[in-house]
Amino acid sequence: MSFQGRHVCHIADMTVADVDRVLDAAERLLPAARGERTLEAAKGKILATLFFEPSTRTRLSFESAMHRLGGNVISVAEPGSTSATKGETLADTIRMVSSYGDVVVLRHPREGAARLASRYSRVPVINAGDGAGQHPTQTLTDLFTIRKAKGEIRPNTVTIAGDLKYGRTVHSLAQALAMYGAEMVFVAPESLQVPADMRQHLDAMGARYRLASTLEEVVGETDVLYMTRIQKERFPDLDEYRKVAGVFRVTPSLLAEGKKGIVVLHPLPRVGEIDPAVDDTPAAKYFEQAAYGVPVRMALLAEILGLKGVA
Ligand code: NCD
Repeated sequence: MSFQGRHVCHIADMTVADVDRVLDAAERLLPAARGERTLEAAKGKILATLFFEPSTRTRLSFESAMHRLGGNVISVAEPGSTSATKGETLADTIRMVSSYGDVVVLRHPREGAARLASRYSRVPVINAGDGAGQHPTQTLTDLFTIRKAKGEIRPNTVTIAGDLKYGRTVHSLAQALAMYGAEMVFVAPESLQVPADMRQHLDAMGARYRLASTLEEVVGETDVLYMTRIQKERFPDLDEYRKVAGVFRVTPSLLAEGKKGIVVLHPLPRVGEIDPAVDDTPAAKYFEQAAYGVPVRMALLAEILGLKGVA
């Protein structure tokens, strides 16, 4: 089914078939994403990015993706510069912005913001992160990286470690991996484990997962190690953050104990979860993962905008 004109607020807004189609298109778009081929498919189309929280990779890769497709970008990267600071509601902001572009990419500190925005928008809304909620396009990038490194998604045991409570990339990824039927291991301090409502949801989906508390005990059975940053900005109390900061660190010696062919992913930014000495090992896939943000977002934008002859 065509994805044209649809919102992507939650990873569950896409089926496995939708995701596969986007990942296949992303594969074909790799040369264009690197600038080796020039496209004009999005000529005359405008992407509006609206970021009410900091971002480097997500915003720039969306903007790069739209430029690579031959389209244009308008952008708010400084939340302080919008009328939100004058008290404008998100609904009003979106009503306006959606009449200035053909697709809106929104990042917002509130969970559910993208879904809310989609109700007021005249054009498709893509969630680029809503508080501790979801980050579906990061998940598409994560899945693409797993496919590139391992050939397929399903046969892998994916260990997701770090902040599983507040980490929105984790919430989208776990649900997607459950859709694909991959096995998951969730490694976190007890206070940052996958929230109960999400576990119930995974159970209802028949997801295969277990919980653990150290990397050492699971690294030997892990095909993909997905590290995440403890989400300092979401802690109501900084003392609570300090108790869990720096609990996990991937080092070359940890990986030496790992399953053969283990790869390490991270949505980035990292703040100490991965020793830089890992960067030069074949296991390190996180910078490649960040680069794949461009072809994956090109593929998604092409689907949503219904662009012809792109991939
Ligand atoms: C993530 C995010 O914003 O949720 N970053 C990203 O988009 N690559 C992860 C994080 O901030 O820890």
